[in-house]
Amino acid sequence: MFSIVELIGRKRDGQRLSDDEIRHVIEEFSADRMPAYQMSALAMAVFFRGLDDRETAAWTDAMLRSGRVLDFGVAGGPLASEPRQRFIDKHSTGGVGDKVSLPLAPAAAACGVLVPMVAGRGLGHTGGTIDKLEAIPGYDVALPADRFAAVIAEVGASIIGQTEEIAPADKRLYALRDVTATVESIPLICASIMSKKLAEGIAGLVLDIKVGPGAFMKTAADARELARRMVGVGREMGTRVVAFLTRMDEPLGRMVGNANEVVESIEVLEGRGAADLVELTEVLGGAMVELAHGVTFEEGRARIAKSLQDGTALARWDAMVRAQGGDLTRLPVPTGETPVLATQDGFVTDIDGREVGLVAVTLGAGRARREDPIDPAVGIRIDRKVGERVRAGEPLATIQHGARGAPPEAQVQRLLAAFSIGEAAPAERPLILERIG
Ligand code: URA
Repeated sequence: MFSIVELIGRKRDGQRLSDDEIRHVIEEFSADRMPAYQMSALAMAVFFRGLDDRETAAWTDAMLRSGRVLDFGVAGGPLASEPRQRFIDKHSTGGVGDKVSLPLAPAAAACGVLVPMVAGRGLGHTGGTIDKLEAIPGYDVALPADRFAAVIAEVGASIIGQTEEIAPADKRLYALRDVTATVESIPLICASIMSKKLAEGIAGLVLDIKVGPGAFMKTAADARELARRMVGVGREMGTRVVAFLTRMDEPLGRMVGNANEVVESIEVLEGRGAADLVELTEVLGGAMVELAHGVTFEEGRARIAKSLQDGTALARWDAMVRAQGGDLTRLPVPTGETPVLATQDGFVTDIDGREVGLVAVTLGAGRARREDPIDPAVGIRIDRKVGERVRAGEPLATIQHGARGAPPEAQVQRLLAAFSIGEAAPAERPLILERIG
């Protein structure tokens, strides 16, 4: 019906494609009738020429329909009587030390939100929620759909990994983009994320769009454009989307790794934890409660903060981990530690989160190749965050060892170089930059 060559040529020349044409392309690609070289050419044409809002929504919808859309409202299911408005999720575009989903999902559940969270693995220098949860021995990230629904009905939240059934066209396309230098296209990123999230059958989505040297979006302008697109696609497809632009330069919280990030998340659930991590959990959770219950953002944030203080969020976390088979008493612990010592007195003025993330990956907390194993005990503890004072000889950070033991000296030096020290404390930088939608 449509000639694929013609469609590629039209996009190359900057013309728009219709909904039907986009649906055809994604269907042909999914059914193996459109070879990878043609899809690569089209992805590159999109990279240079872009997609408008309508095309982006059509692209998202076609990828969503390539797989299964979860429907918790099915008659007889454990969630059939729950109003759709209560199903809300959160997605982050990826950062270093970003373990927010771990305390956030149970905190939102404690506030009456239903959270069907399908999360991802680490990508590049950033960590992934699923890798962190897999640090808990026994935790099953691959629940079948009926068990996923049962855990949400029992606990209010469940976090699982991507399944084969959710947006398979995106999985294929992402793998192709990864090797054809077409990942960094705002409409393709938007369609990729939104197709997976909308397949959860949610009524609302809160987005944490990271901006800065430790994020994939380096500038506020790019992050704002991505946020605007995702809010727009949500609107076209009947899902309310609220996006926050948040700063990602130094790592979030104090822990970077896997098991150590679980430990830090539990601290937040116990009403403690690093101020930036707690703030982000409250803000994103506040918006989830706002969407689920129609209260103000301030009221939603206050409810989340209370759940972190009164033990109700912690109880949901324990119940979720238990329901998914996890045993927190057997969480891996480091086999040793190497401190990274300051060489001068002063204040930490900057920490290069990307470098910290890359050192963590190199030491085994992430993967250089898809098939690499992760050592869950490996991690980095940030002993001095931006604005904190240090004296020469005191630790800026501590490398936590795994099975491979002490790190090579080059990685210790690389981590040291990620810290900038100055004579005066830097001006305070807000964590939450902007709200869109
Ligand atoms: N994460 C995704 O899921 N897709 C993208 O395209 C980029 C980041």
